[in-house]
Amino acid sequence: MKVLIVGSGGREHAIAWSVSQSRKVDKIYCAPGNGGISEIAECVDIAAMEFDALADFAEEHEIDLTIIGMDDPLVGGIVDVFEARGLRVFGPRKNAAIIEGSKSFSKDLMKKYNIPTCHYETFHSPEEALIYLESAQFPIVLKADGLALGKGVLICQNLQEAEAGVTSLMLDKQFGDAGNTIVIEDFMVGREASVLCFCDGTHIAPMTSAQDHKRAKDGDQGLNTGGMGTFSPSPFYTPEIQKICEDTIYQATMDAMKAEGRDFVGILFVGLMMTEDGPKVLEYNARFGDPEAQVVLPRMKNDIIDVMEACIDGRLDEITLEFEDNAAVCVVLASDGYPEHYEKGKLITFTEDFSQKDGYYVFHAGTKRTDEGIVTNGGRVLGVTAKGATLKEARANAYKATEWVSFENKYMRHDIGKAIDEI
Ligand code: GLY
Repeated sequence: MKVLIVGSGGREHAIAWSVSQSRKVDKIYCAPGNGGISEIAECVDIAAMEFDALADFAEEHEIDLTIIGMDDPLVGGIVDVFEARGLRVFGPRKNAAIIEGSKSFSKDLMKKYNIPTCHYETFHSPEEALIYLESAQFPIVLKADGLALGKGVLICQNLQEAEAGVTSLMLDKQFGDAGNTIVIEDFMVGREASVLCFCDGTHIAPMTSAQDHKRAKDGDQGLNTGGMGTFSPSPFYTPEIQKICEDTIYQATMDAMKAEGRDFVGILFVGLMMTEDGPKVLEYNARFGDPEAQVVLPRMKNDIIDVMEACIDGRLDEITLEFEDNAAVCVVLASDGYPEHYEKGKLITFTEDFSQKDGYYVFHAGTKRTDEGIVTNGGRVLGVTAKGATLKEARANAYKATEWVSFENKYMRHDIGKAIDEI
């Protein structure tokens, strides 16, 4: 089989690695890809939003399956374009990807179908939002309705911060039209978990759990980022919590989308908050998490192509997902200054060959191949993943492996998965 993967981050590298393990696949392309992906796939210089050019490429190269990794093309309708041309593609159609593309849509869906989440209100004008905030309880959460590079969520401790947030999202348009509408929701207290689920429109198969660390600095301090590291499984996502999620969230979301005429096929990312009142949905995404994919996929025993094809063909109920009985930790190596100002173009050197090390992986995100070698090309440069028998062991292995990678201005958090030590 020939497979095309659309995207260029650490998540797409993890997907490409997983696809490379499939017994069915003999050629992988990635558009546009990155320096690391180019070691296992042929990178194609077509941007993820160039739907027609991507479909032309898929036709010309007789691609058997295209996998969409990123949210923007999914929300923009790339799957509809491919399907209209008779091309086989993995991911939700535009009318289903809205579950990530519009926060107000997803909150209304949860309310209508009694899927546990927190109280919220939707606002289309800053004036109405400001009136609501005057009598609100703090902290409170402001969310831009549309896609905002994962950064459109503001946690406001008091009225002044919330007023500044409304100004930034709705008047200054920090995230463009994504902030034309905002959702204001109650602040939930608890531990977060990410559960990525394969979906075929009717059936849903949750994968093993993970947890992301979104803040830039140790101790969950500093600015929000795209994710500074992950661990899997989450010890806080107990079998009891899993059962509640199965009973009240996963299938209920599938059924709700079907009832709305928006059958969801692809990966549903359920962001959970495990509150004192039980697990509640924090957010939905319509694709693998980044860097959640980097700890979940290396633990998956199934052939990813078998599972994706079962999703497309509506026979996911024939598949049993299996994960290794171990743990994985991913530590993101970033450019110092991320997520604000940072330099690019720094040469990356490796003292060990990850491909020769069982249980160790390096998934590139912001890297580029040049004549001099692979150089940094973004804020999050790459993620180092390691497995271990326990989370503690995986964490020690991952931090050991971060020492095998060098580049100027290398920055990382030193407490990824540290919460593990508390239990
Ligand atoms: N790690 C969070 C996300 O992928 O949205």
